[in-house]
Amino acid sequence: MALLTWSDDYLVGVQTLDNQHNVLFNLLNELDAAMVGGQARKMIVQMLRKLLNYARGHFSAEEAMMAAAGFPGLAQHRIQHRNLTKRVQEFEARFERGERTVNLQLLSFLREWATRHIQDADKEYGPWMNRRGVR
Ligand SMILES: [Fe+2]
Ligand SMILES: [Fe+2]
Repeated sequence: MALLTWSDDYLVGVQTLDNQHNVLFNLLNELDAAMVGGQARKMIVQMLRKLLNYARGHFSAEEAMMAAAGFPGLAQHRIQHRNLTKRVQEFEARFERGERTVNLQLLSFLREWATRHIQDADKEYGPWMNRRGVR
C-alpha cells in the first residue's frame, strides 16, 4: 500500500501548487517503496536529496505566491517550511550515518507533515489567493 493517497481533500485551489503537492506525494511514495523494499542506501540517499530539492523549490514557489498576494500568514508559514527542511536534513544525515531506526521514523514524520501541512497551513492561503484571482 502506498504511503499517501492523493485525494481532493488536499486541493488548495491554486493549480500550480496543487500539481506540486501531487508530485511531492509521488516522491514520498517512491521513497517509501524504496525503503520498505530494502533498496540500496546510495539510491535512497539520492531519492531523499531529490525530495529535498523538490520540496525546497515548492516552498520557494509557494512563498513567492503568498508574498505576491500579500498573504498575512507568510512569515509563520515560512517558519514551518524552514523547520521541515531542517528536520528532513537531520534525518538524511542520520540515514547516511547508517542509523537503522531512521526509516520508519522518517516515513511517518513525512506522512504526518505532508498531510497536516497541506490541510492546515497550505489550505489557509487558498481562499485568500482565489479572492485575488489566483487559481
Ligand atoms: Fe506550505
Ligand atoms: Fe505546499
